[in-house]
Amino acid sequence: MSEKSYSPIAVDLEKDRKYAWCTCSHSSNQPFCDGSHRAHNKPPSLGFSVEEDKKAYLCTCKKTGNPPYCDGSHKN
Ligand code: FES
Repeated sequence: MSEKSYSPIAVDLEKDRKYAWCTCSHSSNQPFCDGSHRAHNKPPSLGFSVEEDKKAYLCTCKKTGNPPYCDGSHKN
């Protein structure tokens, strides 16, 4: 297999906190944005928040159809 394999990262999200999910893959703070998209001229992060404290599996392959959440697309 030549492609790097990805899997989601489990994170504990806090109600009403603002998060920035990395969309470009260059962040070294996956699954969150660290600003690397600027140096790589890539699209910015996706901002999101949750309505209650919860654990979520955030996508790292960036192929999910339901960003920022893993939808199983990394297996394809
Ligand atoms: S890591 Fe599962 S869809 Fe991207």
